Amino acid sequence: MNLVLFGPPGSGKGTQSQLLVGHYRLTHISTGDALRAAIRARTPLGLAAKAVIERGELVSDEMVTDMLRSMIRPLREQTDSFLFDGYPRTIQQLHNLDVLVEEFTLTRPAVINLQVSDETLVLRMTGRRICAECKNTFNVYFSPPKNAGVCDVCQGPLLKRVDDNVESISERLRIYHEQSGPVLAEYESRGQLITLDGTEPSQVVFAKIGAALSEFY
Ligand code: AP5
Repeated sequence: MNLVLFGPPGSGKGTQSQLLVGHYRLTHISTGDALRAAIRARTPLGLAAKAVIERGELVSDEMVTDMLRSMIRPLREQTDSFLFDGYPRTIQQLHNLDVLVEEFTLTRPAVINLQVSDETLVLRMTGRRICAECKNTFNVYFSPPKNAGVCDVCQGPLLKRVDDNVESISERLRIYHEQSGPVLAEYESRGQLITLDGTEPSQVVFAKIGAALSEFY
């Protein structure tokens, strides 16, 4: 099984990925996480991507696709089941993923599209806090930690993502609305698209993804 998690910033792609990878034994590939790791490691890709991500813009299709290929290659001998979180985001990336699916002989992915209103997305992103140590995610509005600023799991400090500020969020949403239409239309026309309400509680969304996948596969 291969899955793509598609949806606007803050729609719950990362949250659902954590639930799905354990249940379906998928290898999680998040382009956002990989780019943030490259920034922390100060690689050439990270140095090029840093300001782009902070502004809320997209890293170039070519750079992010090269990165994805280099992530799949060493894993492919061990698995043929991937969860692509945050890729593709543009019609060019959709075509690039078609090439990678063929290159690495993967089955065509089911594409989960999580729908959430912009108003809720803004609250989710401005309220998001991530543990600096164990990376657990909290939300000061929807799922607050027991003690403000402290991780319930490992007591590590909770931090905001640098692109979770109002200006970057607004740009991320603008770009999502500009780029997503053709991607959704193409996957819909191929019968690969599963659209779900992403505003329901995480466990409900997860159960609905499971039900939809059992029909898809
Ligand atoms: P990326 O890290 O992928 O960010 P994003 O797409 O903006 O999505 P987020 O991580 O903000 O949100 P999410 O959908 O994972 O939601 P989450 O589960 O965390 O990308 C970052 C940047 O990298 C991009 O802007 C771009 O610059 C670059 N990039 C990445 N991929 C790229 C690509 N392919 N091409 C070019 N550039 C790329 O949830 C959010 C919050 O909501 C959390 O607080 C969570 O607890 C809460 N929440 C989640 N689900 C629910 C629920 N059901 N009910 C209530 N609260 C919920």
